Amino acid sequence: MPSGPLKGRIRVPGDKSVSHRSLMLGALAVGETRVTGLLEGEDVLATAQAMRQMGATITREGDGTWSIHGVGVGGLLQPAAPLDMGNSGTSTRLLMGVIASHGISATFTGDTSLSKRPMGRVIEPLSLMGAGFEASEGGTLPLTMHGALPAVPITYRLPVASAQVKSAVLLAGLNTPGVTTVIEPVPTRDHSERMLRGFGAELTVEEVGSERIIKVRGDAELKPQTIEVPGDPSSAAFFIVAATLVEGSDLVIENVGLNPTRAGLIDVLRQMGASIEELDQREVGGEPVADLRVRHAPLTGIDVDPAVAPSMIDEFPILFVAAALAGRTTVTTGLEELRVKESDRIAAMAAALTLAGARVEETGDGLIIHGSGGEPLRGTPDNAEVATQLDHRIAMSMAVAGLGSRDGVEVDNIRPISTSFPNFMALLEGTAG
Ligand code: S3P
Repeated sequence: MPSGPLKGRIRVPGDKSVSHRSLMLGALAVGETRVTGLLEGEDVLATAQAMRQMGATITREGDGTWSIHGVGVGGLLQPAAPLDMGNSGTSTRLLMGVIASHGISATFTGDTSLSKRPMGRVIEPLSLMGAGFEASEGGTLPLTMHGALPAVPITYRLPVASAQVKSAVLLAGLNTPGVTTVIEPVPTRDHSERMLRGFGAELTVEEVGSERIIKVRGDAELKPQTIEVPGDPSSAAFFIVAATLVEGSDLVIENVGLNPTRAGLIDVLRQMGASIEELDQREVGGEPVADLRVRHAPLTGIDVDPAVAPSMIDEFPILFVAAALAGRTTVTTGLEELRVKESDRIAAMAAALTLAGARVEETGDGLIIHGSGGEPLRGTPDNAEVATQLDHRIAMSMAVAGLGSRDGVEVDNIRPISTSFPNFMALLEGTAG
């Protein structure tokens, strides 16, 4: 491989999902919540700004250390200006849930990527709870919503495996009389459930067969917490794959969140032959965490079980890069949801990897990737650039593909990386000798 080996010890920034939730729940508690390790990426800052616009006092005290003075469940104020959600689907969908049961109205706006993403999936259950919506055509942003007071508790079976939809309904349930129930046919990330319990909400989870039935009692009183945000496994993923691909690498990534609802990539990479050791397993902020030692190993393509998709939903772009450099063929299926992320990640990665010289076939619900068997990819041709389409994970995945290429990979725009991993390029350059 043309890159130098990845060596040493690194830390990736705090978990994006946990960071959003700590700001939201902190703003809904009465008193001061303190957070360390908060991800200071643009998506999370959009959540912080929105909570301020609705009355919370949120202060940055130092690197990743934040203080939130909440207004209490039911205490949010009507924002005077639109809530600018930037690129962040999580901020938008979860806040729609929060507002749905407050007697306030709010307008949501976002960038061109976010303005294409479907909001109907949250509008539907939140309308059943009594909220009103005026959305742009196709149920997209910009949209204005009117919360319901009191809202109506519902029992809602998720039609798509989405932690964002689940969380929106549970958050709406906090200020709804009675018990709000979400039924999850397929488990998705459970940070909301863990953190709601931590803040003192009455929340139960019952497993019936493969389904999870989650109930939250309304008129909740949340108690302020001290939260330590673990490192984001979705950010660690780029370094796990980079160290696996580049010969001679031996990298320790410290403090990585390993919630089983997030850790699918590690299992899949191990099935492909990766060497990933979990050191010093512990708990941080109510989440399982370990230091990961990753050493270079040759990979072999596999058929990826579609059942693992929700536990690695954001990691497919970087898995596709790993597959492009593996032996044999990797087949992925059941990934329709990837088409409605920050970009259509199936189409975007098929185009990007093909441009970099990989052999990729796009299907309706996944990619079939014929790996190079460890040979470097060609890289992007002169004057050609990968289109990242305002999608941070396409940009970071293709930067890692660049390490595994002969001529390097040019991407058109690395700015979106700051939505989730502001120091990514510096860390990659500092690690890959
Ligand atoms: C997230 C849930 C996932 C994920 C997103 C963050 C969350 O979306 O893709 O990056 O924090 O709840 P879906 O739940 O819509 O799949």
